[in-house]
Amino acid sequence: MKFFLDTADLDEIQEAASWGALAGVTTNPSLYAKIGGKLDDFHAHMKRICDIVGPECPVSAETVAMTRDEMVADGLKLAEIAPNIVVKIPTMVEGLAATKELAKHGVPVNMTLCFSVPQALLAARAGARYISPFIGRFDDISQDGLAEVGNIIAAIGNYDFSDSTVNGEQVEIIAASIRSANHVTQCALMGADIATVPFGVLKKMVQHPLTDRGLDSFMKDWEKVQNA
Ligand code: E4P
Repeated sequence: MKFFLDTADLDEIQEAASWGALAGVTTNPSLYAKIGGKLDDFHAHMKRICDIVGPECPVSAETVAMTRDEMVADGLKLAEIAPNIVVKIPTMVEGLAATKELAKHGVPVNMTLCFSVPQALLAARAGARYISPFIGRFDDISQDGLAEVGNIIAAIGNYDFSDSTVNGEQVEIIAASIRSANHVTQCALMGADIATVPFGVLKKMVQHPLTDRGLDSFMKDWEKVQNA
């Protein structure tokens, strides 16, 4: 499993990148608004993120258009920001059509706001490079987000979509809307390719009380050795 950071906050991205396990970043309009992002700085901000993580790490930047033509035009401009930009497009009819068109232009697409197996299958067939099923938003309405992601992983895994994607790459499932380290565990057990996590969840993923306790006793015992 690869880990993406789900944020537009440059400090968080810088810090997570320094830990050595970051493989990409996902953003969305809400995350950009959260950091006080301005419209005329959007492309420059995406470029800053691309520069921090480097060319090997995909950075998802979302379109805010509602028609296929606008999405394609917007997506092509976003793709010019850096070679590692992935255009994020919502799973809807116009989004599918735009994904197909962007794939023809060699632009990788992350189909977002995906909540069902049929949506995921259509996204893959339209040529999405990544599909982002959301977990937490299902949980928010008292439904089982993990079960739906598991179904999506299984259904997509039944087929070969490489003839639809840019450069014949395999479509990858990004488990999104993750709220806890346990969500990551469950998604890994179900075989999600990627988990995109908020910085708070990434920090919790590193922690374990037995690690803290073990480290504390090692340090105390080492002090005894020094004083012996
Ligand atoms: C995915 O790419 C989205 O940005 C994200 O995971 C949404 O998460 P949320 O439901 O916590 O807003």
